[in-house]
Amino acid sequence: MSRDTGGVMSERIVLGIESSCDETGVGLVRLSADGRVELLADAVASSVDEHARFGGVVPEIASRAHLAAMAPTMRRALDESGLSLSDVDAIAVTAGPGLAGALMVGVASAKAYATALNVPLFGVNHLGGHVAVDTLEHGPLPERCLALLVSGGHSQLLLVEGVGEKITEVGTTIDDAAGEAYDKVARILDLPYPGGPPIDQQAKLGDPKAIAFPRGLTGPRDAKYDFSFSGLKTAVARWVETEQRAGRDIPIPDVCASFQEAVADVLTAKAVRAARDHDIDTLVISGGVAANSRLSELARERCAAAGITLRVPRPRLCTDNGAMIAALGAHVLHSGAKPSPLDMPANPGLPVHTIVVQ
Ligand code: KG4
Ligand code: ZN
Repeated sequence: MSRDTGGVMSERIVLGIESSCDETGVGLVRLSADGRVELLADAVASSVDEHARFGGVVPEIASRAHLAAMAPTMRRALDESGLSLSDVDAIAVTAGPGLAGALMVGVASAKAYATALNVPLFGVNHLGGHVAVDTLEHGPLPERCLALLVSGGHSQLLLVEGVGEKITEVGTTIDDAAGEAYDKVARILDLPYPGGPPIDQQAKLGDPKAIAFPRGLTGPRDAKYDFSFSGLKTAVARWVETEQRAGRDIPIPDVCASFQEAVADVLTAKAVRAARDHDIDTLVISGGVAANSRLSELARERCAAAGITLRVPRPRLCTDNGAMIAALGAHVLHSGAKPSPLDMPANPGLPVHTIVVQ
């Protein structure tokens, strides 16, 4: 329960539940009176191994895995923090965007916990959570910053004007997400799923200039901040097919390095350009692809050259987790937002500007 000193709420405990894709996450954070948010626990159960043989997330399998994992993950988070459910002052849950059936498991659980504990419920935006999580690692964010979210499900450039208050989409992918491109290219190359880590490893052994793969949407008349990765994936497939038909061995490291260079080049160039155009001096990169070694290296170089401060949460916080939802819930709570109604639906297409469902 909240520690109350002389009528002033000094600190509150926020529990976050995440179930939008294939990770069941439960996190706990402490919100101080001054709005600072501190990580107390971050328990995650992933069903990624169950999806591996299909080469992508199977929604029905993910939903069932969430059901099985929710209670044990909650238990682990509480144990990790040394707290009990009665210490919780508010519950935040991912209301969307994500897979409908998967989201419903988290939303239903959150409603049950909020009702049983008689605490407010906040249905929050998954994308906002990916930004808010950085405050757990690097402290408060400046008034305005730009976020590049890159994962299996999203590739977005977001203008953040107050983490729990206003987030606007500046650019997005018009086809595949960056992580999805990694997963599809891995499939073409017979590398395991998820494709990001093996491609990253192979790329270190190859030449990024070996093959000139296309940089999607970088022509003078193209949308400045939008992304496209489907043409790149097709270009890799065509290149591999041509080599195979000619009876040549596929130089996997060179293909990986050249593909990875194309992805990192476009992502960082567009992020830096958007930051400059919007007069922003802080870039946050989050999502599973933020773990990519070349992306972070190139982002560091280009941000330094442009005088932009780069913030990348540690990989464990970049991938989907409950702590990011607890963090966003804490910022929303601190901003004084009204709680969500208990009949709040899960919304697979929740727009990014809806930070909290009301
Ligand atoms: O954020 P995340 O765990 O889940 C969602 O999709 O929301 O991101 C997973 C994605 C996968 O597509 C995976 O291939 C990619 O992140 N990924 C990487 C790396 N590690 C994971 N992509 C590139 N390089 C990596 N090192
Ligand atoms: Zn995510």
